[in-house]
Amino acid sequence: MPSDTTGFWTPVALSRDLPAGTVIPAWTAAGSIALWRSASGRISASADRCPHRGMRLSHGFVRGEALSCIYHGWSYGQAGNCLRIPAHPGLTPPETIRVATHDVEEADSVIWVAVGTPVSKPPRLEGLIPLRSLTAFAGFAAIKVAAGSKASPDGLVEIDASSGTICLLLSAQEDGRTLIHVLLKGDAGLPAGIGASRAAESLRRRAEDLQKKEIAQ
Ligand code: FES
Repeated sequence: MPSDTTGFWTPVALSRDLPAGTVIPAWTAAGSIALWRSASGRISASADRCPHRGMRLSHGFVRGEALSCIYHGWSYGQAGNCLRIPAHPGLTPPETIRVATHDVEEADSVIWVAVGTPVSKPPRLEGLIPLRSLTAFAGFAAIKVAAGSKASPDGLVEIDASSGTICLLLSAQEDGRTLIHVLLKGDAGLPAGIGASRAAESLRRRAEDLQKKEIAQ
């Protein structure tokens, strides 16, 4: 499920967590993806399954403008086409060998992946400073109750903390977990960032406690 009010877009990661030349696992309602950034900085979202023998591509590596599988080294371009099969160096891989890809957008230091065909761009988050992401063993409902607030039309859950206003951007994960991206309103400096980070951790604990109680009932 995408962030509940953001239409087809899922906020899968903060830009800072995907440097050039790296690949990380991520998740959308369409399943697991390998999110990677090429050496030149272009971001791609590929299905997390190598067409050869099914190895997770998020376990692979990025070299130049390609993502390579860790198992037998088949490499794929940003459009999902197979570029190279090391065991057959003279072969041009057929067009039929492809990995599925998803639309991806990077805006305001957040990376969004489309679920299905997007009808618009992801929401803008101007004026918000991304701090960190953390995983909660709790669903959206428990997090909103713990925060004491509802989501805005852009999918942001706002909480007032002593360090300033914190905005949470939620992304549903496998097994009922939620990835929480923590953003701070305005650049209030390091102490505010530390305070916001602690406030988010405290909110996560409350949400997880609520989730446990709900499961126990
Ligand atoms: S499983 Fe990926 S190259 Fe063989």
